[in-house]
Amino acid sequence: MSDKEKKQNKVFLRTFGCQMNVRDSELICGLLQKAGYRISATEQDADIIIFNTCSVRKHAEDRVWSLIGSYKGSKIIGLMGCMAKNYQEKAFERDPSISFVVGPQDIHKLPDILKKLSVKSLLERKIWETDSVERPEEIYHTDFYQDAKHAYVVISEGCCNFCSYCVVPYVRGALRHRKHKDIMAEIHQAIDKGITKVTLLGQNVNAYQDGQINFTKILEQVNALDGLTEFDFFTSHPKDANLEFFKALHGLEKSAKRLHLPLQSGADRILTLMNRGYKIKDYLALTDSYRKIVKGGLLTTDIIVGFPGETREEFQETCAVVEKIGFNAAYIFKYSSRPGTEAAKMAGQLEQDEINKRHKKILDLQRAISKKLRSRHSDAKN
Ligand code: SAH
Ligand code: SF4
Ligand code: F3S
Repeated sequence: MSDKEKKQNKVFLRTFGCQMNVRDSELICGLLQKAGYRISATEQDADIIIFNTCSVRKHAEDRVWSLIGSYKGSKIIGLMGCMAKNYQEKAFERDPSISFVVGPQDIHKLPDILKKLSVKSLLERKIWETDSVERPEEIYHTDFYQDAKHAYVVISEGCCNFCSYCVVPYVRGALRHRKHKDIMAEIHQAIDKGITKVTLLGQNVNAYQDGQINFTKILEQVNALDGLTEFDFFTSHPKDANLEFFKALHGLEKSAKRLHLPLQSGADRILTLMNRGYKIKDYLALTDSYRKIVKGGLLTTDIIVGFPGETREEFQETCAVVEKIGFNAAYIFKYSSRPGTEAAKMAGQLEQDEINKRHKKILDLQRAISKKLRSRHSDAKN
């Protein structure tokens, strides 16, 4: 490291979005530490500020733009993650204080980019790397974990489902399954460092496949690992979840008995427009089997309100399904139009006021259900 680099070697990282990004931020920290940079606990203390960002809803992006806008001064600002891929070099026009833009598939280039930046003058400081389609396997083995006991383990990257509202396939690229032997090696490495719990990550973990190894097989192998006491996973997709998987969940003693199974809508017409690949009767049958097989297992979901063309009756259908199923928790999102997606081009985009009203209504409904289930749960315990 040169003297100039040494003066600019403290990095502060701010993470937004899903668990994938939480894990990516660990990878970034690991990479940078190996390259001689220090990870700073406060932004005041740092020379370089990196935003690892999310594009899933406009609100998530707006927050980051306004935060970046508030940094005026001598720090080097970098945009990473899904917004970096979404905006690419246009990010420099949007906010000229940004010096580098690095997409999710290019994070391994970061140490090199920072090196190049350190020898450039302020005006020349514009570097972007957003075109890679795959990351090298080595970045998963940098040994940096935020938590001493728990580790996130990515099993697959990207997504090919193209739900019509969703930006993820565009910013994270096509579905890639990591090799099963690499995943197991990473978990072994984590256990050696004292990790006792893991969360397997993918946009649709149920679709995992590497040769003969499917998701259930991975779960069985993880369950058999000495030193590991618990595991869970995120996110399951209703079109790929099946009974074999529920039976494994029930039978494997280290698996946390909870399932996050995004519903998105309770109306078949909307599910078709969303390109989700299942009907409400399939979803109900699936949750029914889950509850029969994994007795006492928790069930959570995601719901989008105000999808283009959603009628009041279709919204009511969603409320009815939410009541019928009785989720332990539901993440309820206001539909956010994402440029470039199919849904953004659809007719019948709803007024924000109407979306807000529907959001509040279903949120109140879910709160009451969660409360009732919690008190039932604690009654059962007492
Ligand atoms: N791969 C996961 C979810 C990834 S995004 C899955 O398919 O379940 C997390 C959640 O954000 C989604 O489940 C969805 O409910 C919500 N979401 C995605 N795009 C959205 C958009 N354009 N507007 C509002 N919510 C959205
Ligand atoms: Fe987005 Fe659908 Fe893929 Fe989930 S499954 S990341 S909602 S496209
Ligand atoms: Fe957001 Fe990217 Fe995750 S868009 S939800 S951070 S994959």
